[in-house]
Formats: sequence, structure tokens, C-alpha cells
Amino acid sequence: MILEMTVNEKPVRIETHESRRLLDILREDLLLTGTKEGCGVGECGACTVILDDVAVNSCLVPAAQLQGTRVETVEGLEQNGTLSRLQTAFLEKGAIQCGFCTPGMLMSAEALLRRNPHPTEAEIRLALAGNLCRCTGYVPIIEAVLSVANPSVC
Ligand code: FES
Ligand code: FES
Repeated sequence: MILEMTVNEKPVRIETHESRRLLDILREDLLLTGTKEGCGVGECGACTVILDDVAVNSCLVPAAQLQGTRVETVEGLEQNGTLSRLQTAFLEKGAIQCGFCTPGMLMSAEALLRRNPHPTEAEIRLALAGNLCRCTGYVPIIEAVLSVANPSVC
């Protein structure tokens, strides 16, 4: 199939197979390697990207579902070389250890903050429930998202 979609606001047109995973298209075809593969079966969240404003596991999305869609990856968060508020908050709160889960965490949190700019801690925990961190860095990650959601409190 000829797949046409937008990735990080840039039009993309590639020939691919309908069953090819979005994760592989991003990493292998478009060389956007910020998106990580952990489990490959939808259980770890390392591969999370935003697809038409919804956080999804890119390891579970086949090319057949991507025609005309808008995909955003962690590479699209910075603007003109400047990290986003959320990325900066992760750095400031020490929310990154090995960093493997970080792109997925950022994209899940970004999707949450867009639909709900001021989530509660419980809402943040729920939104990040599908993202696993092997370094058990959950507390600073939650604090980082909270600091963006409620800057006067943190
Ligand atoms: S690699 Fe996609 S959810 Fe784990
Ligand atoms: S920082 Fe290492 S897996 Fe989360």
C-alpha cells in the first residue's frame, strides 16, 4: 500500500505492507528512534506515540489503520530546539533514570495534558498506568507531570 500520513507535522508518503507496525515505520523507515520497543505486545508503553490526539501503543497499530492520520512522536515535542515544558519538568524533577521509558511516558503525559490541562494526581496515575518503568522512577515522573499541571503547587 501507499501510506500517506503526517508525522510531527511533516507529510510522509511511503510504500509499505498493510500489516507493518507503526513502531517499525517510525524507527526503521523514518529513523525516528526516540520511540522505543519494549514488550512488542502492548503491555509496557515504551512505544507510545500520539495518533490523532490519542496516546497509543505503536507496536499494536498496523499501517492499514494509518491512512491520513496525524502521528506525533517524542521528536516532535521540542520546538525549534527548545525542550517543551513537560520535557524540562522531567529533567528538573529527576524523572529520568535509564531513560528507556521516558519517550513513552512523555507522550502519554502530553496526550493527557492536552485533553485535561490540570489533571489530579489520580488522573495522572491513571493516564500513565500503561507505561512501565523498570527503574521504578514513578514518583518523580508523577511529580514532573503535576508540576506542569499545577505549577503553583509544585
Ligand atoms: S513495545 Fe509497545 S507496549 Fe511494549
Ligand atoms: S527510567 Fe529506566 S525504565 Fe524508566
